[in-house]
Amino acid sequence: MADSFSLNDALAGPGNPNPRGWPGAGGYPGASYPGAYPGQAPPGAYPGQAPPGAYPGPTAPGAYPGPTAPGAYPGPTAPGAFPGQPGGPGAYPSAPGAYPAAAPYGAPAGALTVPYELPFPGGVMPRMLITITGTVKPHANKFILNFKRGNDIAFHFNPRFNENSRRVIVCNTKQANNWGKEERQSAFPFESGKPFKIQVLVEPDHFKVAVNDAHLLQYNHRMRNLREINQMEISGDITLTSAVPTMI
Ligand code: GAL
Repeated sequence: MADSFSLNDALAGPGNPNPRGWPGAGGYPGASYPGAYPGQAPPGAYPGQAPPGAYPGPTAPGAYPGPTAPGAYPGPTAPGAFPGQPGGPGAYPSAPGAYPAAAPYGAPAGALTVPYELPFPGGVMPRMLITITGTVKPHANKFILNFKRGNDIAFHFNPRFNENSRRVIVCNTKQANNWGKEERQSAFPFESGKPFKIQVLVEPDHFKVAVNDAHLLQYNHRMRNLREINQMEISGDITLTSAVPTMI
C-alpha cells in the first residue's frame, strides 16, 4: 500500500491537525463511529437518497470544505445538484447534466440495488470525492468497489472479512484481464452488520480512502488517464444507501 503512515496519523486531535492532507483543516471531527456524523443523520438513519438540502456542506463540520464555488453544489442529491450547475465554465469540467443523482429525485426512499453502477461520464479528476454509505450485511464475506475503465479495473478496493480467518483489504488493478500486484491493508474499519461511510478522494497521484471519517489508505494511480475511468461498480455483501460524486 502506498501508505507509510499509521491510521492514527489521520485522526483528529490536537496532535493530529490533518496530517494526511485531507481537504479542510481540523482533521476528522467525526472520527469515532458510531454516532460520528455531526450534522448528519445518526447511524442507520439513511433512509435512502438524501432529501434536498440534507447535505448542504461537507460530511462533518470542518472535515471537508464546501464546494468549489459557493452555491455551485447545493448538495450531492439535491434537485439540480449536478445538471447545469451555476459553477461557471470550468468549475466542474464535465458536461452539464453529466452527474444525475444516484436515484431519481423524489424516488421512494430505500436501498440501492447491488451490484450498483455509478457512471462518471467525464471520467474522474482530482478533487472529485465519491461518498458511499451503506451497511455491511451480517456474516459478510466481502464487498468490492471497482473504479473501471471499460472492462479494466483502475482501482479495486476489496474488504475481505474472512481470508484464512483474517480480515484484510485487498487493492489491485486489472488490465487486459490480468491482475497486477496486490496492495494489502490490515487496518480494517468495517464490521458485519454495521453502517459505514467510505469516501474516495481522487488526487493527482492516488486515490485516497477514508472510512467513517478516518483516513484508511492511499492507492497510487496505475492507470494514469483519469478521464478514462468512467464508472464505479459496487458489489458484494452490503446494503447500499447512497453513492454520490461531488467536487470539493
Ligand atoms: C483475486 C480475486 C479477485 C480480486 C483479486 C485482487 O484472487 O479472485 O476477485 O480480488 O484477487 O488481486
